[in-house]
Amino acid sequence: MAELEKHSENSIRLHDKEFEIFINDIEISNIVEDLAEKINNSRIDNPIFIVIINGAFLFAADLVRKINLSKTEVSFLKLSSYSGTKTTGNVNELIGLSDSVKNRNIIIIEDIIDTGITLEKIINLLNKQEVASITTATLLFKPEAYKKDISIEFIGKEIPNKFVVGYGLDYDELGRNLPHIYKLKE
Ligand code: IMP
Ligand code: MG
Repeated sequence: MAELEKHSENSIRLHDKEFEIFINDIEISNIVEDLAEKINNSRIDNPIFIVIINGAFLFAADLVRKINLSKTEVSFLKLSSYSGTKTTGNVNELIGLSDSVKNRNIIIIEDIIDTGITLEKIINLLNKQEVASITTATLLFKPEAYKKDISIEFIGKEIPNKFVVGYGLDYDELGRNLPHIYKLKE
């Protein structure tokens, strides 16, 4: 039997853990629709949506096709950490930022913002490229876990501090393909 069993069940097992449905596909599409409308109302001109992969790939695919901002561009970016040669520890860099972002209006697309550490790193790295503006859109946000002061302009849904999978989000690489979002069973 495959580790990942059925897609339509109320609960699902991934690796060693059980998850139960938390936000179904219909609710997800309503959230994405509302978010697209808010982003369209922002009238940001000639934006580059920067999709943070892997997690945001499904959300971004559904979101950007509802965007009607003029001269919209879409690009993908992976935040990678590696052990440097220095003893100071990990260095983060952006992989995939091939297009010039200098003087551009950036809209970051994230799947979920938890502590905000990742978002802060992305923003710091983008600011080094002298972008014109940065706005952030995230499908999910965990306010109880958030530790940063950075404002998040577009939030799909605030959720409790629970681990979730599905619709791009993974538990040890499993679950990204699920059409619903599941939360860890207590
Ligand atoms: P942060 O740096 O703590 O804000 O975490 C952000 C990243 O951690 C997200 O982009 C996800 O990749 C991952 N993450 C945080 N919470 C969850 C979760 O509940 N499920 C799956 N991945 C998560
Ligand atoms: Mg992520």
